[in-house]
Amino acid sequence: MTQKTITVLPGDGIGPEVTTAAIEVLERIAQKFHHKFSFQEGYIGGSAIDAKGEPLPEETKEMSAKSDGILLGAVGGPDWDHLPGAKRPEKGLLEIRKSLDLYANLRPVKAYSSLVGASPLKREKVEEVDFLIVRELTGGLYFGEPRKREEVNGEEQAVDTLVYKKSEIRRIVKRAFEAAQLRKGKVVSVDKANVLESSRLWRETVDECKTDYSNVELDHMLVDNAAMQLISQPDAFDVIVTENMFGDILSDEASMLTGSLGLLPSASLGATGVGLYEPVHGSAPDIAGKNLANPLAAIASSAMMLKYGFQLEKEAARVEEAIEKVLGDGYRTADIAQDSTGVVTTTEMTEAVIKAL
Ligand code: NAI
Ligand code: MG
Repeated sequence: MTQKTITVLPGDGIGPEVTTAAIEVLERIAQKFHHKFSFQEGYIGGSAIDAKGEPLPEETKEMSAKSDGILLGAVGGPDWDHLPGAKRPEKGLLEIRKSLDLYANLRPVKAYSSLVGASPLKREKVEEVDFLIVRELTGGLYFGEPRKREEVNGEEQAVDTLVYKKSEIRRIVKRAFEAAQLRKGKVVSVDKANVLESSRLWRETVDECKTDYSNVELDHMLVDNAAMQLISQPDAFDVIVTENMFGDILSDEASMLTGSLGLLPSASLGATGVGLYEPVHGSAPDIAGKNLANPLAAIASSAMMLKYGFQLEKEAARVEEAIEKVLGDGYRTADIAQDSTGVVTTTEMTEAVIKAL
């Protein structure tokens, strides 16, 4: 029996609807496998601003840090768009990632066979797609100092800095090798080592780490080539590891291989053991509160919590199989439906997953 405390941060828009779905699925798993999951709810984002005056209240930070895993919905929406940057809902998300040092962002990209028609690419290109992007999340160009505007010789210029410490590279690369050991054992490290010094350090460090993982196959790929290969041969990848900005761009590119935003989960993992699991999509204000949201991305995120957070691989596989089963049986929320017949609601899709479990 495994006993875990899970912090649930529903957030804004469709966040509460999809996290409720994920909780129900986790409760079913707990019951079925005799685990004990207890849930505690906290405020984040716009709803935290409304209730507590700030996007990440101290109490949310504390309960999150003390728990075994965090399940997040989404933050933001038009109600808070008028607020200045430092007070916006998104600040809550950036702050919780930073305060828990969640440096590894894992995004699986997998084609569901019953949905391959949803991809803009040809069926034969995408039907075997099943890979994991491991993106460094707290370093690189988005955080490097100095960053400034200045005037040089009478002309305005702007500076951003791309800096990586060896220890930052090592820890993300180890995550990627470990993830590959649970998969097909193939890592592609993506960099721009022909041009960037930080990429040369990246590549050297990857090669050094490789010696601890003799059962994993490693290739290096330049990022421009990787962008091309993701479209021309997406089924050749198993694990892709890369720095922050390259990962940002490649993961959005990759998300289009499999179709709807409503299907894609993510995990952000850190040094402390507590991870943050959330759908890739946002708060979808256009459909919030209408029981229309696709809960599968949130449910798949809870499967990532079972797998990467609690090492409950069998249980995670059950959830993934249940998702495949309901899609195979033709259950479709509006975002993945080919036409308007037989479209199911958020709660009906969730019930179908629970029944499949
Ligand atoms: P979005 O992902 O919320 O929505 C884009 C489109 O996809 C919308 O038409 C929406 O209805 C649809 N969609 C998204 N998730 C869906 C689901 N589960 N089922 C069915 N349809 C779904 O992105 P958008 O519209 O750019 O942003 C809306 C708000 O969400 C903004 O305030 C934005 O800042 C925030 N946001 C938050 C994120 C987070 O919390 N991690 C990530 C992305 C955006
Ligand atoms: Mg992005």
